[in-house]
Amino acid sequence: MLGHGLTGRIATEIRRDVDAARTRDPAARGVRPIEILAAWPGVHALLAHRLAHALYQAKVPFLPRLISAVARSITGIEIHPAARIGQGFFIDHGMGVVIGETAEIGNDVTLYQGVTLGGTGFATGKRHPTVEDYVTIGSGAKLLGPITVGHGSKIGAGSVVIHDVPPNSTVVGNPGHPVRVEGRRPEGPDADWVHLPDPIADAIKVLSARIAILEQVSATTRDGNDSRRQGATENESARGQPAKAVNPSVGPNPAGG
Ligand SMILES: CC(C)(COP(=O)(O)OP(=O)(O)OC[C@H]1O[C@@H](n2cnc3c(N)ncnc32)[C@H](O)[C@@H]1OP(=O)(O)O)[C@@H](O)C(=O)NCCC(=O)NCCS
Repeated sequence: MLGHGLTGRIATEIRRDVDAARTRDPAARGVRPIEILAAWPGVHALLAHRLAHALYQAKVPFLPRLISAVARSITGIEIHPAARIGQGFFIDHGMGVVIGETAEIGNDVTLYQGVTLGGTGFATGKRHPTVEDYVTIGSGAKLLGPITVGHGSKIGAGSVVIHDVPPNSTVVGNPGHPVRVEGRRPEGPDADWVHLPDPIADAIKVLSARIAILEQVSATTRDGNDSRRQGATENESARGQPAKAVNPSVGPNPAGG
């Protein structure tokens, strides 16, 4: 039998997880907790993980991985039983989320679909990200390696982040780079990540400018030839004789040789 203390703690955790969905998912506003409990895959994955993690910590063999695998096949969310997850965690939509073995997630963190908290290779030991409290990670973002995402930061959808993220920052892009730190744009010589030099685009621009000039020259030459040819034809016709080609095909080769 479960003691009163443990059941109370589990009930509080479940309530907080459901509340996280209600407050952070606009689609869950006004939805009853029981519906969220029944129909939100992010909540299912989290509850399954809480059970798997408790069994994993109690060193129960096999069962934690089985629970994790079953939860994954139902929700599309893969959380290693060893991953540490704080309270008020919410995964919106869910499908495609991967949370690795040594990942650590603080309180009130939000993840959207397709987020990976993964390792970078075959290294062992701590190899997955640590995500501090109140972090939001946008859909499809890949956070790789034993990096730390500071308290209150946001990671833009589609970012690839392989370096630590300072607290209260917004990081976007690939490679992920801060576009806001403490609400302000970062300054300094390395701060403009948007306008990096692009030698291939520069070369293409030069080539297309040259092609435009060549096309203009060739059009002017063609117009000149046409009007000369037309003038010659009119003269011959006026004299009642058939028109001859303006540029005879005989004569010295203009290309030399
Ligand atoms: C990053 C995010 C959280 C916004 O954070 P924010 O701190 O409010 O940042 P801002 O909106 O002020 O944007 C800051 C800059 O980053 C850019 N930016 C924002 N999100 C971006 C993204 N995902 N990729 C690239 N650039 C992005 C903005 O254009 C802006 O550029 P600027 O400095 O040239 O003006 C938000 O854009 C985002 O990606 N949220 C995830 C939402 C999501 O995954 N939804 C899925 C629902 S199913």
